Amino acid sequence: MGKNKLKKFAEMATFENVVQAPFYDPDQPDHELKGKWNAVFFKTNQPLVLELGCGKGEYAVSLARFIPEKNFIGVDIKGARMWKGAKDALQRGIRNVGFLRTSIEIIDRFFAPGEVEQIWLTFPDPQMKSNRRRLTATNFMEKYRRILAPGGTIHLKTDSNFQYQYTLEMVKENGLKIMAQTDDLYQSDLLDEVLSIQTFYEKQWRERGIPIKYLAFQLSHDEPLREPTVEIEKDPYRSFGRSARE
Ligand SMILES: C[S@@+](CC[C@H](N)C(=O)[O-])C[C@H]1O[C@@H](n2cnc3c(N)ncnc32)[C@H](O)[C@@H]1O
Repeated sequence: MGKNKLKKFAEMATFENVVQAPFYDPDQPDHELKGKWNAVFFKTNQPLVLELGCGKGEYAVSLARFIPEKNFIGVDIKGARMWKGAKDALQRGIRNVGFLRTSIEIIDRFFAPGEVEQIWLTFPDPQMKSNRRRLTATNFMEKYRRILAPGGTIHLKTDSNFQYQYTLEMVKENGLKIMAQTDDLYQSDLLDEVLSIQTFYEKQWRERGIPIKYLAFQLSHDEPLREPTVEIEKDPYRSFGRSARE
């Protein structure tokens, strides 16, 4: 591991706004903060919103700035990326945002049923070959519905037409309620202060002229979820490769 990364990890271990449980263990017991994020971590009783796969945390930090009456947690497995958002929040004194370093696969070990009001998924890798790893697949939705309050909303922002179409099909297949949708956010009248927040990956895709898609839907709690069966066209531009710069 590079010197710079080691330095970031050492510094992050001292950050009061970061909780780290980075090892994926399917038998991991519930975390001590489960059901207590507001009481113990934030020490304010406000609706809790997650950004899953937060990378450098731009969305979580900006949401916290724009919406002080809610608490936000950015979740990612990559510590060196998360360091940036966590440091930024500390330096700016933004107290209604925190970061959790762990695998989203075990998100229900960290949050109690109904503890979360909303989930944001910002530019997740569409995982065109593996729907088990796709963050909008039904195996993940099953986990999200365990922690979301009834009527809880999922927001997806993506460059990927494949991810957008797949998620729309998943929503339709399961009769989930769509709250908002557009396949070209920056040309739509949905655009507002919150949806204009741009992450590291969003900036890269916009520079390449790729339209940004946005979908918000409510995840119901009752019926078993079914995977869509329709074939979705793959994104041709994925061969561009992405910058791995931290
Ligand atoms: C393409 S990046 C997007 C990062 C950020 N949202 C942005 O838009 O700049 C996807 C992020 O999701 C994280 N991620 C993907 N699958 C994950 C999982 N199962 N558990 C935790 N983090 C995950 C990756 O580590 C990565 O930082």
